[in-house]
Amino acid sequence: MITFNETTKTFHLSNKEISYIMKLDDNKHLLHLYFAKKIHNADNDDQLFFGHLDNQLFNGDRLLNSYRPKEYGSYGTGDFREPAFVIRQEDGNSISDFSYISHEIYQGKKSIAPLPSIYVEDEQEAQTLEITLHDSLTNTDLILYYTIYRDYPVIARHSAFIHKGDTPIYIQRVMSMQLDLADSDYDFIHFSGAWGREKRIVSNKLRWGNQSIFSTKGVSSAEHNPTFILKRPDTTEDFGQAYGFAFIYSGNFLCEADVSTYNQCRVNVGIHPVNFSWKLCSGEEFVSPEAIVMYSDKGLTQMSHNFHNLFNQRLCRGKYRGANRPILLNNWEATEMTFDEDKIMSIAQKAKEAGAELFVLDDGWFGTRNDETQGLGDWFANTTKLPSGISGLSQKVAELGIKFGLWFEPEMVNKNSQLYREHPDYLLQVKNRHSHSFRYQYVLDFSRDDVVNYIYQQMKEIISTSKMSYIKWDMNRYLTEVYSVGLAPDEQGKVFHKYILGVYSLYHRLTQEFPDILFESCSSGGARFDPGILYYAPQTWCSDNTDANDRVEIQYANSFFYPISSHGAHVSAVPNQQTTRVTDIHTRANIAYFGAFGYELDLNELSEDEFKIVQQQIAFYKENRAVFQYGTYYRLRCPFENNSGSFMTVSPDGQKAFAMYYQRLYKPNTEFVNLKLKGLEAETKYQVTLAGIDKIYYGDYLMNAGISFNSTRLARMGGDFTALLIEITKI
Ligand code: GLA
Repeated sequence: MITFNETTKTFHLSNKEISYIMKLDDNKHLLHLYFAKKIHNADNDDQLFFGHLDNQLFNGDRLLNSYRPKEYGSYGTGDFREPAFVIRQEDGNSISDFSYISHEIYQGKKSIAPLPSIYVEDEQEAQTLEITLHDSLTNTDLILYYTIYRDYPVIARHSAFIHKGDTPIYIQRVMSMQLDLADSDYDFIHFSGAWGREKRIVSNKLRWGNQSIFSTKGVSSAEHNPTFILKRPDTTEDFGQAYGFAFIYSGNFLCEADVSTYNQCRVNVGIHPVNFSWKLCSGEEFVSPEAIVMYSDKGLTQMSHNFHNLFNQRLCRGKYRGANRPILLNNWEATEMTFDEDKIMSIAQKAKEAGAELFVLDDGWFGTRNDETQGLGDWFANTTKLPSGISGLSQKVAELGIKFGLWFEPEMVNKNSQLYREHPDYLLQVKNRHSHSFRYQYVLDFSRDDVVNYIYQQMKEIISTSKMSYIKWDMNRYLTEVYSVGLAPDEQGKVFHKYILGVYSLYHRLTQEFPDILFESCSSGGARFDPGILYYAPQTWCSDNTDANDRVEIQYANSFFYPISSHGAHVSAVPNQQTTRVTDIHTRANIAYFGAFGYELDLNELSEDEFKIVQQQIAFYKENRAVFQYGTYYRLRCPFENNSGSFMTVSPDGQKAFAMYYQRLYKPNTEFVNLKLKGLEAETKYQVTLAGIDKIYYGDYLMNAGISFNSTRLARMGGDFTALLIEITKI
């Protein structure tokens, strides 16, 4: 998969779908030549990628090669675009010149844990290239890592600096991936939003200048997500060229496209440089997080399938990788923090009667947590509310025959807490300056090992003394006053990154020690739904907004990168807590089925008829969950652009498929909607069940003629805010 041509000094990484080509110039600089569909090696590379004079200064014999883009561009030596890295030296200058020393090609892929990364299980799955460059003046090595997989059109990259000089250097900027594209005729698609309306699909044509998405909030955030696509303007779901970029990281990030006035595009993906500065002393190494890029010349659906498979199989880990996710019931919307043991037991009892497999006790069970002003940080049971503690409660829930899960917010503290009273220095804070609170809470300094260890001990105690099979790890505010008393003044630029390393190391310890526990990530909903967290928590709560209408959009947008098994999706009560919208209970479930399914309400409050429906829904989901969670997923109709939205999933064996069709507003006498299904076998007959009526069609009919909905039919089926489930069974 990886070759080095000694004569042309060319590196070629390829599999059956892609080629990634770099070469060394006469000055041993590493240049970028190509990344796209697989091509043959050639004796010369005179047709491959030339930069433009605007971007590169040159002199004398450097002319030809300097005319081409550097693979990992430095600052201040004639390439005026956004650099891959900047290293400040003791005398204040930021100029460096890294040239090739050696390279190594080997089977497999090394772990960078606790930093998350995609991995191999068998060394034959992938090959890795390590290229070592050296800057003699600072006496620093730079290692660029490239992994190519045999079966995925993906390249994984990260970089490392090893400093050997006597005086420290400061890494001011480090991208995990820099990729130069020869033209800029692309649409930049990203997934941006806010709390409660996560992941709107934003698509803009690239233009001259720098366009970016980013987070400087300490988490990947609800505003932007560290995943994006560059696609040709005519690329659709089924056809055309696209690059999908994913940063496997949960902290501050920068994803940018820097387009020159000569229409060339440089992509950078890495840690956001704001307030980042990594002092590196002699003998120390800095390893960047991993970024990956997936190539598709068969449209966006193909790209998503590759991301789903890769993330399901080679990013998620542990017992729940590829496993059926439990149907859970969470008490948050039902009780918030006002409950006692009897109330909790009655909710858990009813969940069991409905057929749910896991009861999750959310916020409010610990310390003096009676409202949001207090208790965070005190991870021991509030025995006024729960006299038998978590240990006793979890035992009682287990006796009902249903599993038990618990909510934590490990990174946070209220000032009104035992933790704060005993350790006021555990916060991220700047002495003599006001510390901003949000929801009355402050952020613990997870860049410090002692703080992480303190929380670990508390969590470990409660987990190991109870019957726990699930943890919801929440994170409900962004970071401010980012300063750590644990680091020297000239190391404060490390705090953001060390903070997220602290989060990963706590996840690492807990997942190692309690391998049977399923972790679900949450950050006020989807503010930490990123590829990095999937390595530790194989599912994420998509949003605090559980309204069916809004969930169609959020789940649809999530599907571009994230496998359906990772979308935490629950049916909640109506009127909806966030939107006050009332939707039918079938509609709510028909949408939530396409995810890690559950309920977010007190089933005791339902009418007898509704409760029976819930029982049927759970029984139905148990029978079909593998199709929903691990089937091949297709986006059929974009809910952002239409009055309707649709997606479907086909079981791995092709026997079963489900399509969801959602109508936002009923409009009389309006267009016919023709829904063309995907992923079926043309020559096979299928039974199609819609609203209780069975009909038989060939696959080619369903995929080419489609299923028609007119307004009258939809009005009869429910009118406004109605989601229908279409069951397709091979006969
Ligand atoms: C966040 C989560 C909710 C719930 C509350 C509890 O908002 O997203 O699901 O856990 O915290 O405080």
